Amino acid sequence: MDIERQVASQYTRGGLEGAILDALTKSGKDPDKLANTDLSSIDEFHLGWYAETDELARELGFSRDSHVLDVGSGIGGPARHLAVALGCRVTGIDLTEEFVQVAVALTRRCGLADRVSFRQGSALTLPFEGGTFDGALLMHVGMNIADKATLFSEVRRVLKPGGRFGVYDIMQIGEGELPYPMPWAMTQATSFVERPETYRRLLAASGFEIEKERNRRDFVLTLGREMREKIAREGMPALGPRILGADMPERIGNVMAVLERGTIAPVEMIARAI
Ligand SMILES: C[S@@+](CC[C@H](N)C(=O)[O-])C[C@H]1O[C@@H](n2cnc3c(N)ncnc32)[C@H](O)[C@@H]1O
Repeated sequence: MDIERQVASQYTRGGLEGAILDALTKSGKDPDKLANTDLSSIDEFHLGWYAETDELARELGFSRDSHVLDVGSGIGGPARHLAVALGCRVTGIDLTEEFVQVAVALTRRCGLADRVSFRQGSALTLPFEGGTFDGALLMHVGMNIADKATLFSEVRRVLKPGGRFGVYDIMQIGEGELPYPMPWAMTQATSFVERPETYRRLLAASGFEIEKERNRRDFVLTLGREMREKIAREGMPALGPRILGADMPERIGNVMAVLERGTIAPVEMIARAI
């Protein structure tokens, strides 16, 4: 199986939409009258979750007139978040068919389908004309993509000159092996974690200038501690990571352990197309 098929099959759970709707009902929400914040504990598949997207959205500062591409959009949490926080239009693209189907369904339930849409496809062959978008976002997707040179060239191609590109990936900052399963990969075969200097070099070679870079390790460790304390007090919530698979708490535990050790860090880079 090629890497993209392995990645998509690893994220495919089967019955995800039904599991989310059940958990929403159990948590006292009405699945027919959803606000995007009702989903915030399960629809942001990256360290720092809702809080990180909130900060990144403000830094990117897209306007109501902007059309933004969310590369590797998952079940659509960050795309809906950006559209609500900034008023922009967002198109998401993702390899995993089930995620795209769930993203479309949840977006319709949140009443955002006029501004947020999704399609299935690969970040390495983006199905869009050159210069289509005013901005782009990539949150925790690069770890599944070996060919980051093609990834960044494709994003640059579909951006207008001056367009901002928000990258937020887990990067290697220290020494040591990663334990698997990780939240993004069951084994090393689908995991391509690189150092910040590799991102900087490949972004520059693809026609981007980096405006800002932030290591988000401390921010995520603090949020992780707060979440563990809440679970110890109140138990595991119905609307929590287990929806994505019974082994998700173990996978999150693995990533938090190497984050504590300083082997990896979630790093934000804000780049501008030149
Ligand atoms: C860890 S999830 C992050 C999802 C979303 N960005 C978020 O933060 O909620 C990684 C996503 O990247 C997608 N993905 C991985 N490789 C891809 C590729 N080559 N092209 C498009 N999507 C890809 C996966 O299907 C998955 O939905």
